[in-house]
Amino acid sequence: MTKYIGILTAGGDSPGLNAAIRGVGKTAFGYYGMQVIGFRDGFRGLVDNRTVRLDADNLAGILTVGGTILGTSRDKPHRMTVGGKTRDMTDVIVENYEANHLDALVCLGGGGTQKNALRLMQRGLNIITMPKTIDNDVAMTDTTFGFDTALGIATEAVDRLHSTAHSHHRIIVVEIMGHRAGWLALGAGLAGGADVILLPEIPYNTERVAEAITKRVRSGRNFSIVAVAEGAMSQEEAVRFQAAEAKKAKAEKKSQKKEARAELEKFAEQHANHTLGLSRRLEELTGLESRVTILGHLQRGGTPSAADRLLATRLGTACTDLINQEVYGVMVAARGEGTEAVPLEQVAGKRKLIPPDHPWIASARRVGTNLGD
Ligand code: F6P
Repeated sequence: MTKYIGILTAGGDSPGLNAAIRGVGKTAFGYYGMQVIGFRDGFRGLVDNRTVRLDADNLAGILTVGGTILGTSRDKPHRMTVGGKTRDMTDVIVENYEANHLDALVCLGGGGTQKNALRLMQRGLNIITMPKTIDNDVAMTDTTFGFDTALGIATEAVDRLHSTAHSHHRIIVVEIMGHRAGWLALGAGLAGGADVILLPEIPYNTERVAEAITKRVRSGRNFSIVAVAEGAMSQEEAVRFQAAEAKKAKAEKKSQKKEARAELEKFAEQHANHTLGLSRRLEELTGLESRVTILGHLQRGGTPSAADRLLATRLGTACTDLINQEVYGVMVAARGEGTEAVPLEQVAGKRKLIPPDHPWIASARRVGTNLGD
């Protein structure tokens, strides 16, 4: 019997999404004779039942294209703004899944999507996911597609900032994405030879960073590149943040949860401009001029790297193989040269941070990079 597959992309876009859609789709209709529809704009399109039939014509020529042909959104099935109100739209999703006679729904996304996918699986849908994000922070997979492309872009930026920092004898503080994980900043900082790398996993001491920069000046190198992850925080900020997180984890009543969420939101608001604050403080402490470059969404845009196209294609094709075998409730993870079906329960709600003993951390310390601690 012909199988019907739905596919959607959720969360922030990521290079390689189209390669993954193509991998799933071409294997589905070309190899197994399945039918495939795409839902527009993530879970929002599944609620609105906005679909597009995917076939050989509209999957042609998308392998090298950035973004997602389906569109994406950060909407969550169980907390979606509809008509100005926050509503649980899970029932509507179940209805639309059935109305489209789906045998499986493929969700391409990061950590948030894995949680949403698990909830839908618990409502009885046949769900299968793939790990995408430039942040590389999805648990139980070697890596995520999008990361390699963003790493290349951020590394090139660090390379280019060197000559201008050198010419003007300045500090340049470059902010690199990654949400609460430091993979991108550490990778690009290490590959680009940043003098200081600041990560969410290692709260920093600003005075120590300034000392490292001053030491460089004394040895004749009167410029420095500081690669700072967007989620990096000072040791004082980390104490406040961890206290607010602990409060949220302990909260039992609705009112306590609301209060803890508000505290975290306030922290995030204050933290939003931390890179500018850090740059100003380093200027004061070192006497060097300092400038800030925020790479932002540049890191997510454009053509995926060859490595991301390969990864997304092999995860996509493996995903359809699993659907053919009726293996559901799993994320198709990258494991060495192959793939592995990991139960969603083992992925959802977990974030892959850089372990303190990671080889990249050890290498950074060996080559004399200051990590702010
Ligand atoms: O998760 C990918 C990511 O690019 C993070 O690195 C960043 O914190 C976030 O998305 C930015 O989100 P938005 O695109 O909604 O501004």
